[in-house]
Amino acid sequence: MEEWSRILTDGLCVFKSMVNRDTEYCHVGKQSVLITLGYNSALLQFKSEVGKYILLTEGLYLFSQQNIMQDFVRTATFHRAIIQNHIDFTNKVVLDVGCGSGILSFFAVQVGARKVYVVEASSMAKYVELLVRSNNLSDKITVLFGKIEEISLPESVDVVISEPMGYMLLNGRMLESYLHSKKWLKSNGMMFPTYSEIHLAPFSDEQLYMEHYSKASFWYQEFFYGVNLSSLHNAAVDEYFRQPVVDTFDARILVARSMKYTVNFIEATEEDLRSMEIPFVFHIMQSGLIHGLAFWFDVAFVGSLATVWLSTAPTEPLTHWYQVRCLLQTPLFAKMGETLSGKVLLVANKRQSYDIQIVAMVDQTGFKSSNILDLKNPYFR
Ligand SMILES: C[S@@+](CC[C@H](N)C(=O)[O-])C[C@H]1O[C@@H](n2cnc3c(N)ncnc32)[C@H](O)[C@@H]1O
Repeated sequence: MEEWSRILTDGLCVFKSMVNRDTEYCHVGKQSVLITLGYNSALLQFKSEVGKYILLTEGLYLFSQQNIMQDFVRTATFHRAIIQNHIDFTNKVVLDVGCGSGILSFFAVQVGARKVYVVEASSMAKYVELLVRSNNLSDKITVLFGKIEEISLPESVDVVISEPMGYMLLNGRMLESYLHSKKWLKSNGMMFPTYSEIHLAPFSDEQLYMEHYSKASFWYQEFFYGVNLSSLHNAAVDEYFRQPVVDTFDARILVARSMKYTVNFIEATEEDLRSMEIPFVFHIMQSGLIHGLAFWFDVAFVGSLATVWLSTAPTEPLTHWYQVRCLLQTPLFAKMGETLSGKVLLVANKRQSYDIQIVAMVDQTGFKSSNILDLKNPYFR
């Protein structure tokens, strides 16, 4: 018992350092930990081996699938995109990458897919098998347990379907697995979704800025049990400003029209997603302070009969992806008619996420600001 509790504690520390210091967890039995990160949960089982701790299994819970399945905008739009383009699926061979509950595969079968291969890396695969059997679709749907990068298919496919989007589109780095799956796609095959657009726009939100800044004010204390903490105040501010804010907002806080960066899933390679530079020039439509850049994304399903859009814009019904805002520690004053130019650099990291570097300048005054943020460690507001 003591041994397991040590394994769990140490194993968990290792795991937490890999993921996110805000990760919530609780012990389940003697050998497992339930980790909750944002809207996802996973059951981790550890075992010890001379001096090290090994992650045995990672099991996704049904409730995290339920959460995304119940995102009506998401699920209904995937459904509509498939139904409206039924001829792209009828008698076709389909691959569902990261099938989760398998819901997208069931949609494909509903419009006449001849065969669907579903690939799932987590233990959700066993639930999908159960669903496939209980829906009498074992002849149509074949479940493959493993990573898309590692499994093998008996044939190439006409269509790849997947829902690989994370916060700000890129978090989780599942898009790379989606692009990897193209090795199984016939040369004229279809990717569903087909392409995505990351939108960005400068925003003004004094309240958010003050709220974020004041979180560090704890470290301003000069007599905390007799200790002066204030030398760490700047470091604490830096740390908070590294956190992108995941929430929603009124689109009227945007002070310029958004610009977009397109990732075409037919053309892009995994390598293209490792580092992306997005130069921008925004024409400011409202004088005031610019507190940062807001991000959201849309994906398009381009079928033979219709193009269907799934949007996570602040002007559209809310989804579980919300929107993401990256604050600048030094807000920039700009007047209507001036331009804000600079760039966003998105660099994939080993923690299945991205480092976001923002550099911005008001061209007419030369006021500059920059920030580096950690998409792996967002603040869910
Ligand atoms: C966001 S869920 C989508 C589930 C389902 N397709 C849906 O739309 O409801 C993504 C799923 O992909 C799986 N996954 C992530 N990376 C994978 C990979 N490289 N190979 C296979 N499955 C993967 C995850 O375990 C998770 O179940």
